[in-house]
Formats: sequence, structure tokens, C-alpha cells
Amino acid sequence: MRTDSPIPKALTDEENRRLIELDRRYVWHPFTQHSLWNQVDPLVIVGGEGEYLIGADGRRYIDGHSSMWCNVHGHRRPEIDRAIIEQLGKVAHSTQLGLASPPAIELARRLIEIAPPGLAKVFYSDDGSTALEVACKMAFAYWRHRGHEGRDCFIALRNAYHGDTVGAVSVGGIDLFHRVYRPMLFETHFAPSPYCYRCPLGKSPESCGMACADELGALLERHAGRVAAVVVEPLVQCAGGMITAPRGYLRRVRELCDQYRTLLIADEVATGFGRTGRMFACEHEGVSPDLLCLSKGLTGGYLPLAATLATQEIFDAFLGPIDSGRTFYHGHTFTGNPLACAAALASLDLFESERILEQLPVKIERLRLGLKDLASHPLVGDVRQCGLIAGVELVCDKTTRKGYTYGMQVGAQVCARAREHGVILRPLADVLVIMPPLVISIENLDYLLKVIEYCVDGVSRGLREAASDGLE
Ligand SMILES: Cc1ncc(COP(=O)(O)O)c(C=O)c1O
Repeated sequence: MRTDSPIPKALTDEENRRLIELDRRYVWHPFTQHSLWNQVDPLVIVGGEGEYLIGADGRRYIDGHSSMWCNVHGHRRPEIDRAIIEQLGKVAHSTQLGLASPPAIELARRLIEIAPPGLAKVFYSDDGSTALEVACKMAFAYWRHRGHEGRDCFIALRNAYHGDTVGAVSVGGIDLFHRVYRPMLFETHFAPSPYCYRCPLGKSPESCGMACADELGALLERHAGRVAAVVVEPLVQCAGGMITAPRGYLRRVRELCDQYRTLLIADEVATGFGRTGRMFACEHEGVSPDLLCLSKGLTGGYLPLAATLATQEIFDAFLGPIDSGRTFYHGHTFTGNPLACAAALASLDLFESERILEQLPVKIERLRLGLKDLASHPLVGDVRQCGLIAGVELVCDKTTRKGYTYGMQVGAQVCARAREHGVILRPLADVLVIMPPLVISIENLDYLLKVIEYCVDGVSRGLREAASDGLE
């Protein structure tokens, strides 16, 4: 892949050491247990090129998780770099509060053009969590402005992840992350996760008739007239463990929302922008949500930016005289930042000029074949795939599906080994996540899968040896 600027140089050992010491002294990393952070030197990333990240030692690593599920076209894409530099030559930031800016206007038009039908307005914010905050607040206020004050709770799914701000955590369903905050959250009722490998209802996908969706219906019935919105991650509950919903589940959710006359918020922060094989996951089931949350891949994974897309009907509910109390009093300082919007426009151009979506089926099939091989490994309980997103669930007993304890960090062990072979991955407990940039080459995809298989095998052997030594 072509880049305009030279590849960043490696750091000297001395400089690398100095940075690591400073990191240990001053930085608090997200989702990180710092009592363990000092045990291994962190990898300091000094650059990137295409599908690779470049470490302080000058080594190249395949970016197997797209730098937290956001990079789309590779790192240092000249087209996106140029768009940002061009915008820098105009203005780096001006506000959306009371002013408008060309990139934000153009981007809003382009997003509405490609979004599922019915979405008409774009509200910008800064990241996935704020996109969700905006959607939840819009849904809540929408009902109030229409005179339905009783719509005061939400429905979400177990294993859902919608971000880390308090509203997003309120609709989050991962106990490990969210339990401690429950007392400070707003009322949300949780429907079962459509997690077929570990069905929470104890059923099997062949005969269940999608009972988990029926449970959602029952919840809507129980709270009829009170639910402001149902919030879902379409097709894949990502942070929950790359849990892929059965075909038709999303459509059922939409039908239930219509039946119970509530709003549907689709969180496509992770699934949007081609990851599932289509521009948006909702397209697979012909679903139009009332509110659509986008971020991560929106800027090609370059800069923080988010958008909450709303229907005209929702927008109209906020109209009224200045003293009507209907104004949407919400906005962040860097909302709709022009540099980020310029990056997003360049990313959308690349989707068109490079026909990114048209090139995905062959990669998706390659991933499917690689996963099929992996599935037979004794340590692998389940493989799940949706487009170029995959989860590989590791278990200690394939028959009973019993997992390892969280403390054993089996997934992390595999990822640590993969790094030695030049692949960067980050697991979700014992689910290995494969989510490379969409531009990954077939060769690198094959290599990544081979590394995973090799490392799963290595860890599996280590675990067996430890067990036979009585160490487990
Ligand atoms: C589905 C989903 N929603 C929301 C978020 C939160 O996004 P951010 O980390 O940008 O706040 C994430 C992050 O992983 C996500 O996967």
C-alpha cells in the first residue's frame, strides 16, 4: 500500500525504556488491571502502515483488531492523510453550536444517503459512548415531547455493550464491567442474549423458534407503555464475546418494537462501515431503526467522531417555540470536528473508489474456511463469524462447554503468543477476536489465522502439561 511519508523509525532501546518507565509512572490504561501491567513491558507503537502497526523496535505487526475495531482502510492512507492536512490548512476546529462547517454538512448528507431508509437527520458527537447517550436521551425526550411522560425505562440485551459513559453503561449487560455501577444507573430491563452456543434459556437453535426474541416480546408486554426504546447491537454483540445473533433475530426485534409502539436504537458503532460485509449490519435484514449510532469506522478509524442518525418524526418532536422546552440541550465541545469530518468524507470516498464492499466476499469466505479448521481444535468450543468479524471461544471441555476460570486468562495467553509472531490481537476473556482492517490482504488473513491456530495449539499444550504436573 502506498504512503506519502517515510515509515516511522524505530526508537532506540534507551528511548523505548524511558517511555515505558514514564507510562508506568503516569498513565492509567483503559480496561487494564494495573497490578499486572508492570509484569510485561508494553509494546510502544510508533507508527503504522497499511494493515501493520510498527513497534518501538521497528517490528511490524498485523493489526488484527483494527486498533480496537475501528481502522478500515489501513494506517496512513494517503487519501485520508491528505484530506486531514487539507482541512488543517483551513481550520482545525470550529463549533457546531450556532455555526456550521462544510465537512460536517457534506458528511451528514452522505451518511443519510447510505443509511437505512427513514433516517433523516445527523447529530454529531465524539465517540461510540456519546452516540449512545445522545440516542437514549433523544428517545426519552421524544416521548415526553409527544406527551407520553410514562416512557421512562429502556430494554437492552444481556451481554450488551454500548460504551462506558453512565447512560451507555445503563443499557449495558456485561456484569463484569457494569455490576459495580448498577446503583447509579437508569432503569433498564434486560432480555436474554441471542447466544446460541450458551443459550440462556437452555434451548437449541434447531428447535427453539427463537425463544429469546419471545422473551423480549414478553418484557415489552410486561412494561407496555413504559419503554422509551429497545437498544441492540445489530447481528453481533461485539464486546459481549462476538455473539452472533441467529438470522431473523434483528427483524423480529424490529417487529416487536413496532407491535409495542416503541423506538429501536441500533448501535452500529462496531458493526458499521463494512465489518459485516454490508455497509451497515441492519441492511442484512432490511431493518430501519429509529435511531442509528455510528462511530469507530466512521472516520476510517482515524479520529474520534460519532453520529446519531434520527428519523424526521423524532426530529420534529423537538420543534417548537424557544420557550417550549423542546430544544435538544446536548452538545460536546468537539462535536462534528472538521478534521474528523474531513477524514470521514475521505473514508467514504475510498469505500466508493476502491469498491471496498465488493472485495469483501472473498475475504469473508477465506475467514470462514480458516475458522472451520480452527473449530476442530480441542481447545476451541465455538467459532462465530459475521462478515469480517469473528470470535473463537476457547473452552476447557468441548463436550460440556465448560470454560476456564477468568483468572487463567487463557485468551490473553494466546494473544501474547500471537504477538511474538507479529500479530496484535486482544481477547474478550476467552473469546479470541478477529477483526482486521477491511483492506487486509488474503495473505495476511491466512497468516493471521495460521498464527492463531499455532498459538491456540501452543497454549493448549501448555495447559495439558500444567494439568498433568498438577499445576492447574
Ligand atoms: C457496540 C458498541 N457501542 C459503543 C461502543 C463505545 O464506543 P467508544 O469506545 O468509542 O465510546 C463500543 C466500543 O467498543 C461498541 O462496541
